[in-house]
Amino acid sequence: MCGIVGYIGEEQAAPVLLEGLKRLEYRGYDSAGVAVYTGSGVQVVKSKGRLSVLEGILHEGEDLPGRVGIGHTRWATHGAPSDVNSHPQVSDGGLFAVVHNGIIENYLELKNHLKRRGVAFASDTDTEVVAQLLEYYYQGDVLDAIRQAIQRVEGSYALGVICAHCPEKVFAVRKDSPLIVGLGQGENFIASDVTAVLSHTRTICRLNDQEIAVLEQDGVRFYDRDLEPIEKTPEQVEWDVAAAEKSGYEHFMLKEIFEQPEALRKTISPRIRDGRVSLDGISLTREQIEGLSRVYIVACGTSYHVGAVAKYAFEKLLRLPIETDVASEFRYRDPVMDERSLVIIISQSGETADTLAALREAKRQGARTLAIVNVVGSTIANEADDVLYTWAGPEIAVASTKAYSTQLAVVYLIALYMAQELEALPPQELKASLKALEALPDQAEQCLSHKETIQYFASQYFNAKDIYFIGRNVDYAASLEASLKLKEISYIHSEAYTAGELKHGPISLIEEGTLVVAICTCRRLFDKMMSNIREVKARGAVVLGITTEDLRERLAQETDCQFCVPATLDFMLPSMSILPLQLFAYYAAGMKGCDIDKPRNLAKSVTVE
Ligand code: F6R
Repeated sequence: MCGIVGYIGEEQAAPVLLEGLKRLEYRGYDSAGVAVYTGSGVQVVKSKGRLSVLEGILHEGEDLPGRVGIGHTRWATHGAPSDVNSHPQVSDGGLFAVVHNGIIENYLELKNHLKRRGVAFASDTDTEVVAQLLEYYYQGDVLDAIRQAIQRVEGSYALGVICAHCPEKVFAVRKDSPLIVGLGQGENFIASDVTAVLSHTRTICRLNDQEIAVLEQDGVRFYDRDLEPIEKTPEQVEWDVAAAEKSGYEHFMLKEIFEQPEALRKTISPRIRDGRVSLDGISLTREQIEGLSRVYIVACGTSYHVGAVAKYAFEKLLRLPIETDVASEFRYRDPVMDERSLVIIISQSGETADTLAALREAKRQGARTLAIVNVVGSTIANEADDVLYTWAGPEIAVASTKAYSTQLAVVYLIALYMAQELEALPPQELKASLKALEALPDQAEQCLSHKETIQYFASQYFNAKDIYFIGRNVDYAASLEASLKLKEISYIHSEAYTAGELKHGPISLIEEGTLVVAICTCRRLFDKMMSNIREVKARGAVVLGITTEDLRERLAQETDCQFCVPATLDFMLPSMSILPLQLFAYYAAGMKGCDIDKPRNLAKSVTVE
């Protein structure tokens, strides 16, 4: 949610800032702006609309001199997208320019307080309050003004600050919203995501909550909230620039769909050794697993849909009660947990506000927590008792694809690990399950090689008004994700229903020509699905069936067209069935002319509630 970048060095700042913002645009894209110290003061240029509008105004940055600056790409929370609400926000006297990611929850109270003291506000944003507070507290020492300001603000923030009185410094501070410092040779950076600095440096420091960084051209100093100096150990980022570029693909989403086989390989193969699951670094003991009374799986969006599959896998393998919850509901429903509960938190970004709050609630109640995260060093990864990383590499497209696949793989690994530790599976069955898991990357490759079939199918249906996805058991869980993928990028109205539930209401939506995608990979429930397909066909639906090769002939008798995916164990089937449906969403959105990587109203990494 919103992208922040900051630069101090020998180069002209504006082009560097714009390049960084380009890599962060997936975090928000309704307006963008930069503030640069030009020699005579801080100059701000910002504009509503995509980053390209700002690039046009600045002639790729050339028009704005100066070597020190901050930039921002916005996903509006407070105040509509407009020039005046874009960041950087500037204090009344023009001393401070601020870029912000997060939400200042007590901004109205602070705004009224400052207004009563004669401060004039220009925008509707919560961010402006921070700029004004800094100027209000400033007595010649920016660090002290920051210290006082962060004592007053409540909520979440990652802030980049420049001050007209300190032309050779960039300041940064964060709480509950990510911010890193990139360390270069004679140049330093701040960014809300490492992808923004990868073309300059792979050496970074992650700021922890309420740590402050002061960047100068030749070095960076860090302080705690009381302005005590602290030492931070730099880390090397493994991702390279190519991972954050399209590499010849038309869109990041397509690139990421096709990266899935490799991402699965990286996520699975190091964790299976000598016929056993080996989860290095996990502190969860066999005794703790034996003592578990309940497992909760908590996440948002696509990651929640992974939890929906996980429920079936865990219940089947472990015979343990499992609850899967949407994080925004979980955190406020007063869930009952104790030290015998295991809470599995799933998040690609590791920063999602509701998911993070759910993790903290679980810890507060004494539950053990295990996070499945893609972004190394993210807040959720840092705070959970244990973390298992998905090795998917940076996911740039707003619509999640490779994160989903690799999260599923980690869920299978955890379920099989726990089954192995509890000896809940006969050795032959464990062996067969691990073999099936290891086969997934090749099977995914095979599945994706039939992309033309899906492309053709999308060409027939991209104009559909409504599309329904139905399935039972894990096929229903996959339907949830297929439906989300389609609606978020193609804007086609779509719903997922459990096939058995249709006749309890939703079937009234079916009319002549309505497209229903029936996922029927679960052999055990295949006949039931056939009955449900007959029900919708009898009411005029056109049905695309997704199944495995061995069931194709039977499915062909009931459906208008079919797509076959490789067979695997029941609980792993969503790893296959989702692939053609990701492609379907992608091609349908492309044919409709939608902005696939940056769908309207959305942004990657939702760091606000
Ligand atoms: C949809 C999508 C979102 C995210 C959700 C959670 O394609 O990407 O639904 O899955 O915002 O994000 P993370 O996994 O970063 O917590």
